Amino acid sequence: TKNGYDHYMLKEIREQPHALRKCLRGRVDAPGRSVSIDAVEAITEPNHVHFVACGTSYHASLYAARLFRERGMRATPFLASQYDLDAIPIGTDTLVVGVTQSGETADTVSALQVANDVGATTLTVTNVVGSSATREADHAMYIRAGPEISVAATKTFVSQQAALAMLSSAFSGECTREFVTGIRALPDRIQSILDQSRAKAIAAEYADADAYFPIGRGSNAAAALEGALKIKEITYKHAEGFPAGELKHGPLALVTDRTPVFAIVDGDSEAETMIGTLNEVDARGAPVIAVTDCPETIEPHADHVLEVPETDSRFTPILATVQLQLVSYWIANRLGRSIDKPRNLAKSVTVE
Ligand code: F6R
Repeated sequence: TKNGYDHYMLKEIREQPHALRKCLRGRVDAPGRSVSIDAVEAITEPNHVHFVACGTSYHASLYAARLFRERGMRATPFLASQYDLDAIPIGTDTLVVGVTQSGETADTVSALQVANDVGATTLTVTNVVGSSATREADHAMYIRAGPEISVAATKTFVSQQAALAMLSSAFSGECTREFVTGIRALPDRIQSILDQSRAKAIAAEYADADAYFPIGRGSNAAAALEGALKIKEITYKHAEGFPAGELKHGPLALVTDRTPVFAIVDGDSEAETMIGTLNEVDARGAPVIAVTDCPETIEPHADHVLEVPETDSRFTPILATVQLQLVSYWIANRLGRSIDKPRNLAKSVTVE
């Protein structure tokens, strides 16, 4: 049941701290002790890691591949529907990770099949025990998010990100205090966003906009793409996410006083460059809503701030996602959309 919520989506957004605690349990128990993932123990160290996924799970893969590379591994995300078509070289020393909430997405399952056919090792990171992806892949890791009813993925996205972050640590054998503290603090930090978010007021102010453009740099670019997908799916309005650096290479032509820009700004790594971008956007009259852990620095350059707690930069995209989920939910709610079952969409896409 919806437990008193109007929509499963809001219930599932609010379940995220609980879902993450389940995802982390028994895997990152104490600082200094390494992350333990059963599936990883059975896999010999790959030369290259490919992620194959669709939609939201692809955005989790963009995020994950970057974490793997940061730890010195070769890792590349692919859209599952393009994996075979794009003639990607797959070696027998490649690990192909199918990221799929449902475990039933036809494109992802067939990408795993392609990988198996050429003798690669396959792993699926999924929410559903016994799903097609678990049967196709050599190994499985479960995100343990619990059932997700709303078509728009929310808690399963943050659980995928946490699971894949742990996977990057388990594979690299590197488990710093910052990593363990940061990942273990995620449930409480998300709870504090849920308790204090001003997303509903922002949504009310901008529900009649023409389009929404979430932007971010580095791993926050993946969060921007995911924010835009959420807005599109449930509000039926135009939204497009961009790596912030790309804005000036074309999309800036779309920016007007009717296109709010949601800028994810991580104070540690990118504040200065992002301020330049915010000023460009502001000069076109667009409302700027900063999703940031450094409100004092950014406030002078934004119309509004949606604050996220400070954390190790690797986890900022996860926190920013929660604010954008709430923004999309409250815009759709205001517009009276069919939030849990958006038109034309199905929870799992079992055709290629
Ligand atoms: C977005 C959404 C879809 C799915 C995509 C992959 O909210 O739900 O984009 O993420 O269809 O589904 P899974 O993860 O089940 O393979």
